[in-house]
Amino acid sequence: MDQPWARDFYAKQNEWADVSRDPITDMHCRNADLVQRLAGGRIGRVLELGAGGGQNAAALADLGYSVTAVELVPSVAQNALELAARPRKGQLRVIVGDFYEVELAERFDIVCYWDGFGVGSDDDQQRLLRRIVGWLVPDGFAFIEVYTPWYWSGIARSGMAGRETQFGGVCRRYDFDANGSRMLDTWWPVGRETEAATQSLRCYSPADLQLLLKDTGLSLESVEPRGAYDPARDRFVEDAPLEESMQYLAKFVPA
Ligand SMILES: C[S@@+](CC[C@H](N)C(=O)[O-])C[C@H]1O[C@@H](n2cnc3c(N)ncnc32)[C@H](O)[C@@H]1O
Repeated sequence: MDQPWARDFYAKQNEWADVSRDPITDMHCRNADLVQRLAGGRIGRVLELGAGGGQNAAALADLGYSVTAVELVPSVAQNALELAARPRKGQLRVIVGDFYEVELAERFDIVCYWDGFGVGSDDDQQRLLRRIVGWLVPDGFAFIEVYTPWYWSGIARSGMAGRETQFGGVCRRYDFDANGSRMLDTWWPVGRETEAATQSLRCYSPADLQLLLKDTGLSLESVEPRGAYDPARDRFVEDAPLEESMQYLAKFVPA
């Protein structure tokens, strides 16, 4: 089953800030190009987990991939369903459901999860990794964006922790749970902090991931840094090294 907070947080975040309605941007197209590069140029079948509004899935379908996108929250998935209804070079199918429970008859060349890994406990993450092995063809691979403990523990030093930012009608605040190694991302509508909802994502170093992978049937093949927001300069540094990155892309292959 999904984590109790996840359905509530992602539904509220979408209700308050309409995040699923973001357009398909250069970032989604660059993500799709990255998938093609990781696949050695091969076009195939992709399963995307936690697909949100479907922008990454649609950009990949536009390259010719046949994409199945799974998203938990119906109001978030609505945008993905609308993107799937438009003509694309490849195919886009959207399943509104829980990736811990969804039953899929087919197998995939690639399983991916952009932004949002680490929702549950380590046991939950291991359960998902085992499901991923079962969805892959033998020469397939998976990749997951993973939050790093060093960036998120450092937000206290950089002054980002506990600082409220406001955009549109919404407020947001980041914190870090050092005991659990979890980044905490709290949202609320302006003036209604009592209704706040928090996203809590487990942060893993590559060494932590290696421990998590034990007995899952997956092995870690490579990691690529994914950049860092620099609060002092209020800008995103795309070429930040791994030891400064907010997230990295972990590529897994069946063991
Ligand atoms: C941080 S958002 C990222 C959305 C999208 N991947 C992106 O990068 O724009 C994480 C998404 O995962 C979805 N999610 C969380 N738990 C899930 C589950 N058990 N099954 C399916 N989707 C889930 C959430 O509803 C949310 O839309």
